Amino acid sequence: MQIENIQRYIGADVSKDRVKDDFYSTPQYAVQALLQQETFDGNIWECACGDGALSKILKKNNYNVHSSDLIDRGYGETGIDFLLTNRKADNIITNPPFKLANEFTLKAFDITKNKIAMFHKLSYLEGAKRQEQIFKKKYLKNVYVFSKRVTFEKHLGKKGSGMLAFAWFVYDMQYQGLPTLNWI
Ligand SMILES: C[S@@+](CC[C@H](N)C(=O)[O-])C[C@H]1O[C@@H](n2cnc3c(N)ncnc32)[C@H](O)[C@@H]1O
Repeated sequence: MQIENIQRYIGADVSKDRVKDDFYSTPQYAVQALLQQETFDGNIWECACGDGALSKILKKNNYNVHSSDLIDRGYGETGIDFLLTNRKADNIITNPPFKLANEFTLKAFDITKNKIAMFHKLSYLEGAKRQEQIFKKKYLKNVYVFSKRVTFEKHLGKKGSGMLAFAWFVYDMQYQGLPTLNWI
C-alpha cells in the first residue's frame, strides 16, 4: 500500500471526496474470518454500514441485520449519527470511522446486550486513554489478528501490499476478564 493510501485509510485529509467520513469497505474475507470464529445471538446492528459490504456478508450468513450510516452511500438507513442515537442492539458489528473508534466503542458499550465486534488497526491495543476508558472495563474477550495483511484494493483503486495490521476486537458484555489473542 502506498504512503498516500495509508494516509487515506487513517483519515488524513489527502483527498477530501474519497475518504470523507473515513469511508473504507471491509473486504468480504475479513468478515467471513470473523464469522468462522464467533457466533452472535440475536440481532446485529451495523451502525456505520457504508455501502453495505459488511452487512451483506452478515445477511448471507442468515443474521438479522439492521444497517445505518451517517452518510448516504446507497445502503441501509442514512443520516443516522450512531453517537447520537438511542437505539439498542443485541450485537454490534462494524468497521468504525478511524477518528471516532473510541467513541463508537464506548457508545456500543452503552447500548449492546451481547457482543460487539470492531474492526481496527492492531495498534488500537495501544494508548493510555484507551486503556483507561475501554480496556479496563474488561469486556474485551477476543482479539483476532490477521496473520496476512488486509488490503483495501477496491476503494483505494490500486492493489495494495497491506502495510497496516488489522484485527477484530470482540467484546462480550457478559464477560469480565482478560482478552485472548488469536490469529486468523
Ligand atoms: C471505515 S468505513 C466502514 C464502512 C463499513 N462499515 C464497512 O465495513 O464496509 C466507516 C463508515 O462510518 C461512517 N460514519 C462516520 N461517522 C459516522 C457517525 N457519526 N455515525 C454513523 N456512521 C458514521 C462513514 O460514513 C463510513 O461509511
